Amino acid sequence: MEQTDRPRRLRRDGIRPLVSETELHATDLVAPVFVDATAEERVPIESMPGQERVPVDAAVDRVEEIMATGVEAVILFGIPASKDHEGSRAWAEDGVVQRATREITAATDATVITDVCLCEYTEHGHCGVLEADARENPTLTVDNDATLDLLARTAVSHAAAGAEMIAPSSMTDGMVGAIRSGLDDAGFEDVGIMSYAAKYESAFYGPFRDAADGAPAFGDRRHYQMDPANGQEALREARLDVEQGADVLMVKPGLPYLDVVSAVRREFDRPVAAYNVSGEYAMIHAAAEQGWLDLEATARESLLSLKRAGADLIVTYFAEDVAPDCRDA
Ligand code: PBG
Repeated sequence: MEQTDRPRRLRRDGIRPLVSETELHATDLVAPVFVDATAEERVPIESMPGQERVPVDAAVDRVEEIMATGVEAVILFGIPASKDHEGSRAWAEDGVVQRATREITAATDATVITDVCLCEYTEHGHCGVLEADARENPTLTVDNDATLDLLARTAVSHAAAGAEMIAPSSMTDGMVGAIRSGLDDAGFEDVGIMSYAAKYESAFYGPFRDAADGAPAFGDRRHYQMDPANGQEALREARLDVEQGADVLMVKPGLPYLDVVSAVRREFDRPVAAYNVSGEYAMIHAAAEQGWLDLEATARESLLSLKRAGADLIVTYFAEDVAPDCRDA
């Protein structure tokens, strides 16, 4: 039989760009920044080559470097000077994220998004306050409802410092609603919520937990983060967040969960974010160091795939590397 339909016709050099379906823009990318109240100088993160923990007084420099590549948005994570049972440094007016946000918004045009979670701030490393006996009883961990108010207070303190968008990542049921009312009551109706709507209990967060010093001191996060086996449940999570006022729906991790990114894209009329997490970054770096993968090309293909699956924006440690080649003219 003669072959008449030949897809290769569309792959000729002059035609390829005309029919290309997906494009990566520097303005789609959000770069994570780790601000560390215990650091006196910028400290490289070993498991995430090219990433650093920076002291508050270096946060503006760090953000200016990022902006110079064409990236316009950052998401801040904080490492506090001290930790306690409740994570009270998370909502302190002079907390590490609050101070960095004030400095960055005063000195740059960067869009500041802040991660809201308690795991970096609690001495036990869980994402909320513990249930009584949680350390002894493996069926217990975080007291969901007792955590809501603390998340709302943290979000309000970030907004007061100048954050334009709040990104709650603790997978507490009801967190979006609690934060939305907290922000509205404090007069921050214009501050949006980018919810980590479908956040899985993933082994791909390993390097981040080193970076942000947020590993649980006992147990794991299986009672509050999603089971990697579940896809349908992601739609339920996303629906609840939409009902509670989420402005952007995030799926995390990214590449291992492209099916979830695409399902959330189809199902909801909210922008979808994908988080290309620390383990996805570390894997490519490790292979590239061995000479087994081309760093830039694999990074770019990863991000393009997330967009093809339906992500409108991507939180990625590759932002600075990839952005210069995809700036809008
Ligand atoms: C805090 C938080 C985590 C990440 C983002 N926010 C860690 C976790 O849930 O254990 C992971 C990010 C990454 O791996 O790049 N809850």
